[in-house]
Amino acid sequence: MVKAKTTFYCQNCGAQSSKWLGRCPSCGAWNTFVEEVIQREDKGSRKSIYRDARSAVPTKITEVPYDHEKRIQVQDQELNRVLGGGMVPGSLVLIGGEPGIGKSTLMLQFALNSRNLKVLYVTGEESEHQIRMRAERIGIKNEECYILTETATDAILQHIEEIRPGMVVIDSIQTLHTDIIDSSAGSISQIRECATEMQRLSKLSGIPIFLIGHITKDGSIAGPKILEHMVDTVLSFEGDRNYGYRILRTVKNRFGSTSELGIYEMRNNGLREVSNPSEILISQREEALSGVAIAATVEGLRPMLIEIQALVSSAAYGTPQRSTTGFDARRLNMLLAVLEKRCGFRLGAKDVFLNIAGGIRVDDPAIDLAVVAAVLSSNADTPIDMKTCFAAEVGLSGEIRGTNRIEQRISEAEKLGFERIFISAYNLKGIELKKFSIKIAAVKKIQDVFEKLF
Ligand code: TYD
Ligand code: MG
Repeated sequence: MVKAKTTFYCQNCGAQSSKWLGRCPSCGAWNTFVEEVIQREDKGSRKSIYRDARSAVPTKITEVPYDHEKRIQVQDQELNRVLGGGMVPGSLVLIGGEPGIGKSTLMLQFALNSRNLKVLYVTGEESEHQIRMRAERIGIKNEECYILTETATDAILQHIEEIRPGMVVIDSIQTLHTDIIDSSAGSISQIRECATEMQRLSKLSGIPIFLIGHITKDGSIAGPKILEHMVDTVLSFEGDRNYGYRILRTVKNRFGSTSELGIYEMRNNGLREVSNPSEILISQREEALSGVAIAATVEGLRPMLIEIQALVSSAAYGTPQRSTTGFDARRLNMLLAVLEKRCGFRLGAKDVFLNIAGGIRVDDPAIDLAVVAAVLSSNADTPIDMKTCFAAEVGLSGEIRGTNRIEQRISEAEKLGFERIFISAYNLKGIELKKFSIKIAAVKKIQDVFEKLF
C-alpha cells in the first residue's frame, strides 16, 4: 500500500516544506506549518453507500427535487429548538463545550431517547462498559442504539455501511484518525481529513451526523477554523459548573436562526429539559430586597425573565472594583458612566458587583434598564417592588431606547404575574396596549425611571 504524499504548508504565507518547521523561513511566523495531503493513496474500488455516487451535473434550480424541508423531530424539545425545528437529514452538526460540561451525556441521552431510530454512537473516549454504566443512569428507551469504540475513520465508515443507522454520533472528532496522514489524532490535518470524510458521508447518504468537539483554552473549538465552515450547524454547550444549569446555544445554523437557546438541568439521572426557564432563573423570595431587578429578555424566539443582582458599596481600597458574572463588564462601565453623567450619581468611588442569577450569560441589550435599576436600588438601599420588571436598552445620552419583540416580553411578564413593566416610550407606537392588563410604564430618559421607581 502506497502512503499518501503529504507536504507541509505555512498557514500564514503558503510556503512549502517537506518537513515540519517551527518557524517559517519565508515569512518568519512561528508554529504555522500544517501537514497537507497532496496525493491520496489508492483506496481501490470499495463499494460504498456514498463513494459510488455519480458525479454531479448542472441542474436547473426548479428541477432540483424539493421535499418541503424534511425534518426529523427528535424527542428532545430543547434540541429541536436549537436545531431550528428538528434534525435535517444529511446535516453535520458540531457540538463544542468545556470538558465535563455534559456533551457526551447530552448526546448519549439523545441517542437513548430516540425511539424507533437506529443510532450509532461512536466513542473514542470511553469504553463500552463506561457508556453502558452511564446509559443505566440515564435509562435506556431505545433498544436500537449501537455503541462502537473505534477511532479509525475508515473502520467507522465501514460499520456505518453495514449497520446503516438513521443517525450517527461521533464522540469526539479529536480522537478520530485516518491512515492517510501521519500526524497524530487531534492534529489539525487529522481533524480536517476526518471531518471531510464525515461531511461526505452525511451529504451523500442523508444520515445526520453529530460531532462532539473539544474546545481550546480561549473557548473556540479545537482544530482548524475550517471545521466550523464545513459543518452545517455549530452548537455550543455551556454553563457554570457550580450551577446545575446547562445552555445549548446555536453559534451557526444553515437551517435556522442562530439566536436559539436550549436550557437543561444536570440531574443525577441525566439532563432534564427546562421548558419554562423563567421559573428557575428568578429566585423565590419572600420579601423585596435592594439591588435586585428583573429583566424581560428574549433569547432567540423564547422570552424569559431573569434576575439581575447588583451590589454597590464604598470602595474599601483605592481603586473601585467592577466585577460582573454573566454580563459584559465594559457594558456595565458604560452604564455606570451614563448614571454618573446624566443623573449625577457618584458611583466613581464605589465598588459595583453585578450578577445574573442562575449562572447564565445574556447578550440581549434590553437588559440594560434592569441593570441600571438594580444598581440604583442597591445604591439607594431601596428595594424595587417585586412585581416590577424592565425591558429596554439605555443609550449613551441616558435615553431609554426601544427594543425588539416587545409584545412577547410584555406578555411573558404578564403570564408570570408581574404587575408593572418599564419599557421605552419609543416602543409604545407598535403595541396594542388594550391587549395587556399589566401596567406599562413608558419612560424616555433615565431620570424618569428614577422618579417613577422610588
Ligand atoms: P460528560 O458528558 O462526560 O462531559 P463531556 O463529555 O462534556 O466531557 O459529563 C460528565 C459530567 O456530568 C460529570 O461531571 C458527571 C455529570 N453527570 C451528572 O451529573 N448526572 C448524570 O446523570 C451524568 C450521566 C453525568
Ligand atoms: Mg465526553
